[in-house]
Amino acid sequence: MNIYRKIINLNVNLAKLKKNGTTIGFVPTMGSLHEGHLSLLKRSKKENDVTIVSLFVNPEQFNSAVDLELYPRDELKDFKMLEEHANDIVFCPDVKEMYPKKEEHFFELDGLDSVMEGKYRSGHFQGVAKIVSKFFEIIKPNNAYFGKKDFQQAVIIKYLVKKYFKKSDINIVICDTVREPDGLAMSSRNLRLNKAQRKAAVLVSQTLFKYIKKDSKLSITDIKKKVFDTINENQYLQTEYFNIVNNETLQDIESERLEHGVTACIAVYADEIRLIDNVSV
Ligand code: PAJ
Repeated sequence: MNIYRKIINLNVNLAKLKKNGTTIGFVPTMGSLHEGHLSLLKRSKKENDVTIVSLFVNPEQFNSAVDLELYPRDELKDFKMLEEHANDIVFCPDVKEMYPKKEEHFFELDGLDSVMEGKYRSGHFQGVAKIVSKFFEIIKPNNAYFGKKDFQQAVIIKYLVKKYFKKSDINIVICDTVREPDGLAMSSRNLRLNKAQRKAAVLVSQTLFKYIKKDSKLSITDIKKKVFDTINENQYLQTEYFNIVNNETLQDIESERLEHGVTACIAVYADEIRLIDNVSV
């Protein structure tokens, strides 16, 4: 596995690969890898000649200094996991390499960035769009892999590519959420849960699976109430938002029934640890 910390060195290798017509799959991550990340790597390996995984905790997408500081980091463990899964290239730049100077670029994302995560984490998706655009400009992958776990992010990246990378022909592949055996969506933040919080956290996915069903007899209003009440009754959990949205516009659906083409998205605090999940109909 080749490890690059500098854009220039990665570029030299990429130029050689591209000259030979090698197809490139790209998996952007913030490290602290788990099976969810590895599922993207496995898919990319199947569909491309060479796979590049990036490890970069992007300060621009954090709106809390504490959250940024507490974000788990273990580069050596990540390298080991990537090596074991036969990853080809890892790109792990430092902050100066990616942001040598202050830039004020505003991405117009058609309001997709102002609901749900965007509403509660102001500027988050501008930060995501900034770093993913930089990676795309450097790597120019044939395929880039994102998890459905971050549903809103995946929708926004698709829009970003359609709008800002028209000529690059980058294909965005969305991969299913990988879950723990009890249903909790895998996340680097799960490492911060203590025993009691971890036990409580499973209620998030369990509640979504129970109420988000195509043939549900309940109205949207009742589903929302049931989900809020079930989760918030737990002493460790507090729901931040729960929206049932159109898969493309991310706007709340107007119908009172669950229908095809919608996704239920939730953010819940387990004490101070923020968890997100979603289930599609
Ligand atoms: P990170 O949270 O490290 O996630 C990297 C990728 O792994 C994202 O596409 C995410 O959706 C996917 N992923 C995380 N947990 C998953 C799970 N349980 N199942 C399937 N896929 C999962 O998302 C980011 O980093 C950043 O915002 C990034 C895109 C790297 C930009 O900084």
